[in-house]
Amino acid sequence: MSEQTPASSPPPSSPKPSGKPVVTQSKMEKIVALCKRRGFIFQSSEIYGGINGFWDYGPLGVELKRNLKEAWWQDIVRCPGVGADGEVLDMVGLDCSIIMNPKVWVASGHVGGFADLKVDCKESKGRYRADHLFVVTNRTDSGTSLMFAFIAGDEASELKAQKRLSKAEKVSLPLLTEKYHVKPLTSIAVSEFHRIVSPDSDKPGTLTEPRMFNLMNQTYVGAVQDEESKAYLRPETAQGIFVNFRNVVDTSRVKVPFGIAQVGKAFRNEVTPRNYTFRSREFEQMEIEFFIRPDTANEWYKYWRDARFAWWQSIGLSSANLQLREHDKDELAHYAKAGAGTSDIEYKFPFTDPGFGELEGIAHRADFDLKAHAQHSGLGDNLKYFDQELQLKLQAAGVPKEEIDKQVKYFPHVIEPSAGADRGTLALLCEAYTDDPGRPSGVVMKFHPRMAPIKAAIFPLVDKDGMPEIAQKIYADLRKTWNVQIDNKQNIGKRYARMDEAGTPFCLTVDTQTLQDQTLTVRHRDTLQQERIAISNVRQFLADKIG
Ligand code: GAP
Repeated sequence: MSEQTPASSPPPSSPKPSGKPVVTQSKMEKIVALCKRRGFIFQSSEIYGGINGFWDYGPLGVELKRNLKEAWWQDIVRCPGVGADGEVLDMVGLDCSIIMNPKVWVASGHVGGFADLKVDCKESKGRYRADHLFVVTNRTDSGTSLMFAFIAGDEASELKAQKRLSKAEKVSLPLLTEKYHVKPLTSIAVSEFHRIVSPDSDKPGTLTEPRMFNLMNQTYVGAVQDEESKAYLRPETAQGIFVNFRNVVDTSRVKVPFGIAQVGKAFRNEVTPRNYTFRSREFEQMEIEFFIRPDTANEWYKYWRDARFAWWQSIGLSSANLQLREHDKDELAHYAKAGAGTSDIEYKFPFTDPGFGELEGIAHRADFDLKAHAQHSGLGDNLKYFDQELQLKLQAAGVPKEEIDKQVKYFPHVIEPSAGADRGTLALLCEAYTDDPGRPSGVVMKFHPRMAPIKAAIFPLVDKDGMPEIAQKIYADLRKTWNVQIDNKQNIGKRYARMDEAGTPFCLTVDTQTLQDQTLTVRHRDTLQQERIAISNVRQFLADKIG
């Protein structure tokens, strides 16, 4: 959960500056190009020059992201597994509004504390997160030489800083590589800022002193735009769940331990949106608030941490590219200071490699939020949970009534697994991307079949002899259940190439033999193996493979 940590916290584990001269045509550039070419992701408002930190999902991308969110909803809300207590998890869903009463954000601490330290460049008007800026300097810095700032994780920015230093020091880049030194901006005293050349300006001394910057997007509700009508676009979906806690308990049959899940948009006015969709200003979260008895926090925290780590692998992210990172005490968010812990599930994105970037955070938020809303809304103890099961248990154990009354009404503690749907989609894209010079497309997207945007493509080998009609019939049947495509344009090699780039796991070809025995050829995307199956078995075949 590095996303919400105050700016005083240490910089995120990644992206990290590489400290090496960078190469051109990176894997990430190739992924971005494919995403645009094949309609996974487009820049928002592209024809007007775009808008920084906002992205649109194209026809293939929207299917991929929906598959991710639907798998999460299915596995979390509709058909959850067995929890830490050996019982099937008790989970319900919620869909809250994006704009809420602004008092919600005062209670949650976002109005007061949801801020990053930022620095501005007076010349270029660029704004940067202080913990995202690093400088390159001469190793033997005498206290007078220039320092050149760059944005961590941005290869072009880092290379530019290296080149500027090499020019200033009059040393060629390879020689300089031995000598230069990389330091985080946050480690440099403001009195030395006059020696720093900012990433997008030419002269030193243009960076301002770091200042706090609230990340919430503001808007106004109603006809008049004044302090009274000021509202915020939610920066997380979690608070909608907390403020509806009472409603859910009163209207459904949930009992502690239980969870409320929500998928929805969140907005943050990120100072430096970077690395494609990784850090956007509008993004989607998939959040669970799991309410528990306070004394069971350790076991439920471990349960969710491990269950969520396993889930990402179940949808195709390899264990080699995933890591669980337990937060250090000084890194913990305000709501998680005292508790069982916080860990991040991190993915090795091409732009963080060899480091990792956060995909999901699992935090023990204790009773911070419910208590805060109880206090700020004036509901007080009415927001507490009455644990009837615990009451019966204590009565049976002969515990005195006074003691029982003290124990059975409480603010439940919360374990929060909070994942990003856009980061998840990006991780699926990065994981799937595989260069394969042996194929006509030169690349194949190896999505897990459950995540693949198109599950199967149906090809009539030629556009005659009744093959298009048979293919059309199969297509009409399969599309009732899955996103499938029919394609009869160009030769079969080109059709395979299109499907390899889209990551379609199965291509079904209707050919001459089909006319005789009602079978077709299945071509497996990853192995390129082919097998024949009966048309009557195609449905079952796909159901077994896709799950
Ligand atoms: N309710 C807790 C919470 O919001 P967070 O770590 O700030 O915690 C949770 O965010 C997840 O949301 C992150 O793990 C990440 O996947 C996603 N996320 C956060 N900020 C994001 C951004 N600017 N762009 C894309 N995804 C983001």
